[in-house]
Order: sequence, then structure tokens, then C-alpha cells
Amino acid sequence: MDLNELLEIAEKERQRAASVRIRCCTAAGCASSGAEEIKDRLEQSIKDAGLDNTVEVCSVGCMKFCGRGPLVEIDIPGVLYQQVSGDQVEAIVDALKQNKAAESGATPLDREHPFFTLQQPIVLENSGKINPERIEEYIAVGGYQNLYHVIHDMSPDEVVDEVTRSGLRGRGGGGYPTGLKWATVAKMPEGQKYVICNADEGDPGAFMDRSVLESDPHRIIEGMAIAAYAIGANHGYIYVRAEYPLAIKRLETAIKQAKRLGLMGSQIFDSPFDFKIDIRVGAGAFVCGEETALMQSIEGGRGNPRPRPPYPAQSGLWHSPTLINNVETFANIPAIVREGADWFASIGTEKSKGTKVFALTGKIRNTGLIEVPMGIALREIVEKMGGGVPRGEVKAVQTGGPSGGCIPAHLFDTPVEYDSLIQLGTMMGSGGMIVMDTETSMVDVAQFYMEFCRGESCGKCIPCRAGTVQMYQMLTKILRGEATLIDLEQLERVCGMVKATSLCGLGQTAPNPVLSTLRYFREEYLELLKDSPKAQGVASR
Ligand SMILES: Cc1cc2nc3c(=O)[nH]c(=O)nc-3n(C[C@H](O)[C@H](O)[C@H](O)COP(=O)(O)O)c2cc1C
Ligand code: SF4
Ligand code: FES
Repeated sequence: MDLNELLEIAEKERQRAASVRIRCCTAAGCASSGAEEIKDRLEQSIKDAGLDNTVEVCSVGCMKFCGRGPLVEIDIPGVLYQQVSGDQVEAIVDALKQNKAAESGATPLDREHPFFTLQQPIVLENSGKINPERIEEYIAVGGYQNLYHVIHDMSPDEVVDEVTRSGLRGRGGGGYPTGLKWATVAKMPEGQKYVICNADEGDPGAFMDRSVLESDPHRIIEGMAIAAYAIGANHGYIYVRAEYPLAIKRLETAIKQAKRLGLMGSQIFDSPFDFKIDIRVGAGAFVCGEETALMQSIEGGRGNPRPRPPYPAQSGLWHSPTLINNVETFANIPAIVREGADWFASIGTEKSKGTKVFALTGKIRNTGLIEVPMGIALREIVEKMGGGVPRGEVKAVQTGGPSGGCIPAHLFDTPVEYDSLIQLGTMMGSGGMIVMDTETSMVDVAQFYMEFCRGESCGKCIPCRAGTVQMYQMLTKILRGEATLIDLEQLERVCGMVKATSLCGLGQTAPNPVLSTLRYFREEYLELLKDSPKAQGVASR
């Protein structure tokens, strides 16, 4: 495969595409509400109406407004239908036949709604537009040209430098500078090195990575291949949880297609660069998303974290230097190569560059995936994009999953970026954003996350194994109205101890939901204590 052949495939695909496309989202959210059946019925109706020469029904990835699925878009005249049911299919096709697609009777979504207009898609630029099961469609939108460009026009050091200058930080939660991580692995002596894509995504309420894999799998392959070239690796792994069968299927298809076209394997683009990717399916333990546990799991062992250093960049998979990045981190790479580091660095804030994908869920009117520039105010997301809560008022937003915390409504003018969220006692995390209304008990929320951590603790170290159980029991005691101020003080002491002495990030951050709800909603804890009036007195001192 050379550049001309790649461009030929792109051109052929553009010629092949029918003049009108009906796009059906068949990603997991819409699939769970019957999208595959809608797509099949649309195909049959288009055939029956004799429109199959000019109209094409395409299966695409997530169109973002997942809470209103199944979604169907007709590109000409540009109408997006929500909650499409099987019995609306014929009316849609009839209207299309009469060139009145917008008048079919199905319910359109307003593309001018802030839910769409405030988005800035980079990671999701192809999501909902191309068929993720056809490599030709990815190539037709410029796919794999970035890989060609780095292999033929850039040295590995120049690629690392470009990623460093872009300011990209890891999207898996910690926000570690991606370029610095790549440079560390690149500087390790030549020899066996690995690239790993962390697609374990175990936070409750998070589905960003799953959507990216289901909607644009070639983007991840291209991002990983660029990384492999930059650091001198020839082998990659994608570690993905078994609960994501569609993502796994689409990744497998994408890998087969890339191999068939010579975009994976040996001497890619007629160069000395070799690269292959294997998929490893995880059984769904949250702790296996932690990088050292993940590598143990790939090696065939039990997914237990180990102390760092050595970091994976120094000694990772089978003791070889290993680059491990999150799905969304890799998904940014082709765009950085295509548009340049300066372009990427011009988006976002001084210390948080680019965009971030969030899964907006909970008690919010508009549920779905949003990709917004870093620095956007939380209020814009919750009130404008999310449309607020259906009942009562917004009380708080939880970010960062079990490692994060709750931000109260009076702080919603805070810009969404790594450092500002940490200052508020939470973290960006991988992108779960759960909205809570005034009916939500924040002590319940703290207990929910502690129950999760208690169940997911691997048990290797005592502070986390015993501490999460104790914290869960204390929270339960508080919720039952059986606790006193002394119990509350003890809860805070255990939180501090577990944070300070646990081996891995799971234990080190498990107390965060408790600490952040105590910081902003302490009165809710105090109201539940047996000696509540005394406690109120202490609180007001
Ligand atoms: C308990 C735990 C679970 C984690 N789960 C994930 C995960 O599902 N996906 C992910 O990318 N990173 C996860 N991480 C962070 C990874 O250890 C690692 O930092 C990340 O994959 C690095 O990629 P990045 O630099 O691109 O963010 C988790 C960390 C901890 C402590
Ligand atoms: S902190 Fe928890 S999850 Fe991490 S190693 Fe210790 S017991 Fe296991
Ligand atoms: S899964 Fe269909 S819009 Fe997100």
C-alpha cells in the first residue's frame, strides 16, 4: 500500500456513496432501543419504494443524543429524527420519496440546540457520520493519511515533539502529559516495546470510550500505530472489557480490514515499520483499569496492582518499556498530526488543552455524549446543553466516578479543566458526569460509591481492603440514623488513613466521594446523626 493507493480507495468510496444517505445510529445506546430493526426496515422500505439506487441506509456510530434514541438522520435535507419507531419507517420513506423528508411525522431534533452547538468534535468528529465497519469510509475522511505522513515525513522524535507541544494530557483520569510519557518510552534502549490502549472503562455512568470504539475504531488503531512508530514499538494490545461486545466486534473487524490493506503488519506503507495489534478481553474488574493490574491481566495473571516505580514506561509488559494510554488519548492523535500541535494547543485553557468527551447522565433532561472545549463552565454543560433537571433544581454534579467527587450548584461557574476540578476536591476522571437534583441524598451518593469500591477492591493491601468495608459500614450506620458525631469523626479519620496508605489509585481515591460530600453537604450528614442538635452546635462553631 502506498499513498496513491490509499487516495484511490478514498476517491472510489466518495464516488460509490449514494446521493442521499439515511444514517442509523447502531451504537450500543440506540441498539438497546431497537435501532438494528429500524435500520433493517428502512433498508427494506427503500428497496420496496425503488429508491435503492439513490438512497443508501448506513449503519453509523453514536450521534451523541443517546437519551433520545433510536436516532435516524437523513443528510438531504438535513433532518435528524429522535425516538424513531418501526411504524414510522414507511412514513419517513414516503416523505423522502416526495422530497419532503422533513414532513414525515416523525419527531425531529433541533440541530441548533446548545446540546449540539456547544460541542466541538475532535475525538468524535467521525462519530455518527461514517460506518465503523467499513475501512473505506474511514479512509474517505482522510483516515490513515496521518500514519503515512508520520512514517514518511517525520522522525520518531519529531512525532513525540509534536504531541508534547500540543499539550495533550492523558484522558484516562490522571491527566499526565502524553508527550512526556511518549518521550520516556522512546528514550528507553532499543528492543521490545509495547503500546497498550486502556479500554477498560469501569466507572459507573461512563460510556465515552465504548462509544469511540463502537463509532470510529480505525481512529484508535491509527492513533496507536502513530504512537508505536514514535516510541519504537512493534506490538500493541487493546484491553477492553467483555461487557462491550459491540466494541470488541467492531475492533476485530477493523483490525482484520487494516491487515487486509497492509495498514497493519510488516513494512507498513513500504517502510521498515512493523506493527500489529491484539485484543485482550477483560472480565470487568474495575481495578484492571489500573495500569499495572491491567498489564498483569494481559500477561495472564490475576489483575492485582503493584507498586510504582518502576513505571510501565520503564518496565511494563513482560518487563519491557510500555506505553499505556486511554482510548480518548489515542483518538486525539490523528487530529493532532493532521492539524498540528499549535492548532490543538489553541483549544482549551493554559494547562488543559483540547476538548474532553463527557457522558452526561443522571437527573438531566438531555442525556448523551458531549465533546466540549476544556475550560467551558459547568453551568453551560448542565443548564444549556443538558437542559437542567426535569423536576426541582440541580443540586450537584459528580465527576471522576468512584475516584472523584460532587460539585455543588453554587460552584457551577467553575471552568472544566484538570486543575480547577482538583481544587474543588474532585477530578476530571475519564469523563463520567452525573447530575443530581434536590431530591438526591448526598450521603446515599457517598454510600453508593463506597459500596462500589468495597466490591472492587482487589484486597491486596489492608487499608483499602478493610478500610472500604469500614467506611461503607459507617455510612450505612449514618443513613440508618444510628450514628453519632464520634462515628462521623471516625469516618473522616479512616478516609484520611485509606487515602494515605493504600497501594494503588483505587484505595487512594476511594474516600473522595465521602470527603467531597462532607465538604459541601456536611449538614446532610449532621441531620442524620442521633445526637444531631449537638452536632449542629459543633458544626456552627
Ligand atoms: C482503579 C483504577 C481504574 C482505572 N481505570 C482506567 C480505565 O478504565 N481506563 C483508563 O484509561 N485509565 C484507567 N485508569 C488509569 C490508568 O491507570 C492509566 O493511568 C491510564 O490508562 C493512562 O492513560 P492516559 O495517560 O492516556 O490517561 C485507572 C486507574 C485506577 C487507579
Ligand atoms: S488499594 Fe485496593 S485495589 Fe489497590 S492494591 Fe490495595 S487493595 Fe487492591
Ligand atoms: S448510541 Fe445512538 S446516539 Fe448515542
